[in-house]
Formats: sequence, C-alpha cells, structure tokens
Amino acid sequence: KLKAAVFASGTGSNFEAIMETKHLACEIALLVCDKAGASVIAKAEKYGVPTFVFDAPDKATYEKVIIDKLEESGISWIFLAGYMRIAGPTLLRSYEGRILNIHPSLLPAFPGVDAIGQAFRAGVGTTGVTVHYIDEGIDTGPIIVQEKVTILKDDTEESLKKRIQQVEHQLYPKVINQLLQSK
Ligand code: GAR
Repeated sequence: KLKAAVFASGTGSNFEAIMETKHLACEIALLVCDKAGASVIAKAEKYGVPTFVFDAPDKATYEKVIIDKLEESGISWIFLAGYMRIAGPTLLRSYEGRILNIHPSLLPAFPGVDAIGQAFRAGVGTTGVTVHYIDEGIDTGPIIVQEKVTILKDDTEESLKKRIQQVEHQLYPKVINQLLQSK
C-alpha cells in the first residue's frame, strides 16, 4: 500500500476524517506537525500513527529535516490538512505533484488564514471547499475539485464553519482515493 503523510497544525478534524475512512487507498504512516501541543498530535497517537513534531528556526533547515523523515518513512504522498505554513522549494521539489491541500473557500477567493470568517464578513452568498495541488504561493496551485456551500440567511460564522467542515470531511478522503486509484 502507498504510504502518505498528513501535515497539520491544529485541531485535526480533517486528519480524523481521513483516518476514519474505510478503504482508504493509502496508509497514513506519519503525521507531521509544526505546533507542539496541537490537538492533532493526540489524535494521531490514538490511531497509532507516528508523529513528527518539529520547531525549527529557518525553512531550509526544517524542510531538509522533514524530507529526511519522510523518506525514512517511505512516504510518497503528502496531504496538508490545516497546515499553516507555506511549503518551500525544497519540499516542493522532492514531492512535486504529490502534495495536496484542502482549503475552506472557493479559491482563488479568500486564501490564507480564516477563510470562513473572510467569506462570512464579505457577505457573499456562496463559499465552499477547494482541494488543490500546492505550489509556492499561499493557497494557490492547480485546483482538483471544488464543492459549493451556500451561506444561509440565518447562518452565524459558527454554523457556516460547521457545514463547511462537514463538506471537507467527506470531500478530502474522496478526492484522495480518486486520485490515488487513478495513478
Ligand atoms: C480546515 O478547515 C482547513 O481547510 C483549513 O484549516 C482547517 C483545519 O481544521 N486550512 C486552511 O485554512 C489552509 N489555508 P482541522 O485541523 O480541524 O482539520
């Protein structure tokens, strides 16, 4: 089975959704996390997924360390799931075309942090979820799939977030499986 790593910085609800997927086309063999104490670390431990938590001063150094760890673990794909760092050229070159990201908006609208809040405050009628390949930008790179979420008249930011995350949790594992099975 192909081995993949999830990169995450926070809660890890997308990590959990991936782990709970029956017949996932790959094994999640590593969690990479840049925040000591993030809830996603405890979730990985619950599933018996090895974790690599790092806190390194400069990007070139830490990406080299991460790549060594990925290679040592036999990782061939990377799924970013709430990973709040930009991948640098070192990582991008080593895993070209094999790094996916999920983002809670219809990119190119509302990139960066707090995409759900951004859309809510902008007063748009529709937002959604994007799964895309990454490049050196912030939430840029070729889009694989998008799913729309309507912002309802009585939505709060919280209720909107809940619906968007439900979509994320269905969509990400589905796209991962479709992609890996087509390879
Ligand atoms: C998710 O909504 C994900 O789309 C978003 O962070 C959240 C992480 O939640 N990612 C970005 O905003 C990337 N720019 P989780 O830790 O519960 O999976």
